[in-house]
Amino acid sequence: CRLHVFLNYIFILTYIFGLIVGWVRSVRTQKAHIFLHVNDGSSLQSLQVVAGAELNDQLLTFGSAVEVTGILKKSPHQKQAVELEAQRIHVIGECDPVDFPFKIKERHNLEYLRQFPHLRCRTNAFSSLLRIRSEATAAFHSFFKDNGFVQIHTPVITSNDCEGAGELFQVEPSSVGDAHREFFFSVPAFLTVSGQLHLEVMSGAFSRVYTFGPTFRAENSQSRRHLAEFYMVEAELGFLRSLNDLTKVMEDMFKSTTEQVLARCVEDVDLFHRHVTPGHRASVDAMLKSSFPVMSYSEAVEILGRSTENFTFPWGCDLKTEHEKHLVKHCGNVPVFVTDYPYRLKPFYARANQDPPQNTAAAVDLLVPGVGELCGGSLREERLDVLTAHLEDAGLEDTYDWYLDLRRFGSVPHGGFGLGFERFLQCVLGVDNIKDVIPFPRYSHSCLL
Ligand code: 4AD
Repeated sequence: CRLHVFLNYIFILTYIFGLIVGWVRSVRTQKAHIFLHVNDGSSLQSLQVVAGAELNDQLLTFGSAVEVTGILKKSPHQKQAVELEAQRIHVIGECDPVDFPFKIKERHNLEYLRQFPHLRCRTNAFSSLLRIRSEATAAFHSFFKDNGFVQIHTPVITSNDCEGAGELFQVEPSSVGDAHREFFFSVPAFLTVSGQLHLEVMSGAFSRVYTFGPTFRAENSQSRRHLAEFYMVEAELGFLRSLNDLTKVMEDMFKSTTEQVLARCVEDVDLFHRHVTPGHRASVDAMLKSSFPVMSYSEAVEILGRSTENFTFPWGCDLKTEHEKHLVKHCGNVPVFVTDYPYRLKPFYARANQDPPQNTAAAVDLLVPGVGELCGGSLREERLDVLTAHLEDAGLEDTYDWYLDLRRFGSVPHGGFGLGFERFLQCVLGVDNIKDVIPFPRYSHSCLL
């Protein structure tokens, strides 16, 4: 709690004057005293407030917002260093305990909390999650800063469909009635499905670049790992010659950011690993210790073919969640890289391998326990003639003339990847449903608040 700053002084002074604002997490009344726990959102810890019974107030209920002033003292209890002996308690905002959807001392599960997107941040579990999310964001930024990447703000509104999967949300002003009006941007514009192409532009000048922002996919999916709006961490590296060099960065990034989250959010992560997803910590430790195995798509097909789960999986099909989970299990429940996918499964930018008759692309996915695909990446097609031929086949050569320019002027071998930030949180915390790791989930038929 923010009162922690006082801890530095507590050993110098016998007592000091303290003020805390926050929300009441528990109230206990005894004959002569009342005991409150007040939490200000800065950590899982609440400060114990002890007050004479004369300060009791009917409005002092679980969930109410209070301002307490008093003397900060060394606590007689081992669990906490200090407590606040209240001289004044002011209830700033009442909270009717009957209508408030959360009950004191009750442990509500994540599914229940999901019904209250506007209030769930008031609970221990969800406030822990949001502090972890904030720290994880910082961890990704520091990984990239420490490794010489330049952050680029790629646009949210764009005229390209990077992935070519047609999962675009079109952007137009809301004015109605003018059926013949022109496009606002003169061309169809969409919410971005990936910042990759803009990163490729920048990689041509800075070599190592990254972006971390909201990404949108009009996927009509109610699955536990898809959202219509999610955050993607994307990196692009110039002068990159092999998938090995790319997977090394992906593995380092996963381990470094996970370790940082575990180190900086000890209490919050502990709450998850003890109470929300018990036993998950062992799985995270195993991931960190392991050296991530690498298998080709063709090897994956063989493994699936040999499995006792009766998968029918001919070469050329896209991996589904159940296949990804099987491959992860096959590798001992640690993250695994699958490389060299059939070329036709990958978007136009993926670099073609020279391996007829299979025709694969130098693309890689990172599959992780409990989630499946966490990252997707590839070497990019840097050869002007090959890329031009592919774009012509797809009838896209005019749309992507600017992209071809990147190969015309100072082109270098390069590659990159994107990581689904919510899936990363699911993986580290063991959370089953992606809707429980984002403050305000958006998915088909749901855009609350
Ligand atoms: O594999 P994807 O589609 O890759 C790209 O978009 C590349 N252009 C990225 C790049 O190379 N710069 O998406 C990357 C990751 C997936 O592995 C997944 O973790 C996440 O983004 N993702 C989603 N997360 C939540 N909801 C969705 N609908 C998602 N779609 C993809």
